[in-house]
Amino acid sequence: MNTHTSQVAIRVANVHKAFGRKKVLCGINLELPCGELLVVLGGSGSGKSVFLKHLNGLLPPDEGEVEVLGEKVSGRPEAELIPLRRKVSYIFQQGALFDSLTVGENVAFPLSEHTNLTAKEVRHKVARLLARVGLSGTEDLMPSELSGGMRKRVALARGLALEPQVILYDEPTAGLDPLTGEAITELIRDVGKETCATSVVVTHDLLVAQSLRGTLAYLSNGVFTFIGTIQEAMREQGELARFLRAGGLHVGA
Ligand SMILES: Nc1ncnc2c1ncn2[C@@H]1O[C@H](COP(=O)(O)OP(=O)(O)OP(=O)(O)O)[C@@H](O)[C@H]1O
Ligand SMILES: [Mg+2]
Repeated sequence: MNTHTSQVAIRVANVHKAFGRKKVLCGINLELPCGELLVVLGGSGSGKSVFLKHLNGLLPPDEGEVEVLGEKVSGRPEAELIPLRRKVSYIFQQGALFDSLTVGENVAFPLSEHTNLTAKEVRHKVARLLARVGLSGTEDLMPSELSGGMRKRVALARGLALEPQVILYDEPTAGLDPLTGEAITELIRDVGKETCATSVVVTHDLLVAQSLRGTLAYLSNGVFTFIGTIQEAMREQGELARFLRAGGLHVGA
């Protein structure tokens, strides 16, 4: 990561978060330059989702600071975060689609809420977004008629509607078969390149992490114990090495 010449999209400084007596984040530090892709790895329950939620203010830190696109996220009231959230998409693990709305209405939702586009312009944009995720012509389907992979694609189309500068993905391939997972992974990589968005992908799927080719951050005991390339990660010892091996990546390979 070259933090000297590029602008920083995400800056996290000494973030702590506990729920009751359970400490989840214990001093997280990170600087991610604009346009880069970060993959956050870590065991189940290590705090990956909790970390991601701090990046758009869904959770406030107990201590420390979060800054996204040059704006402070931590310590600000919900109402002040609304403009920033238009630029920062959060793609929830289960897609979080509105079950009573059609696919087209789901994708149109942020456009109707946050833009002055006419109904016709919204229709065209929705069609373009659905085409981008390989789901042309599905406007009239209901979420209940979609497979898990299709739901994730629709959620991505909706997440891209406002042309976000930062896209946060929580387990985008969990529960998908390997081929569908690979297609979603390619989509994430291509969308990042096409839009120059900064992406943060939380996953415990190492093959996904490898094919995204981003910077890796390994979350363990509430801190990033490693930040670097996958090649560097493969030269590490200890817990990370065991995690990589158990996930099918061979240290020293
Ligand atoms: N709102 C909450 N209230 C209380 N505890 C929480 C809350 N959110 C998360 N936790 C706790 O924080 C810890 C980390 O949770 P988190 O969901 O971030 O894990 P994760 O790394 O995303 O795991 P997984 O890979 O299973 O999704 C867990 O012990 C969880 O129970
Ligand atoms: Mg999680």
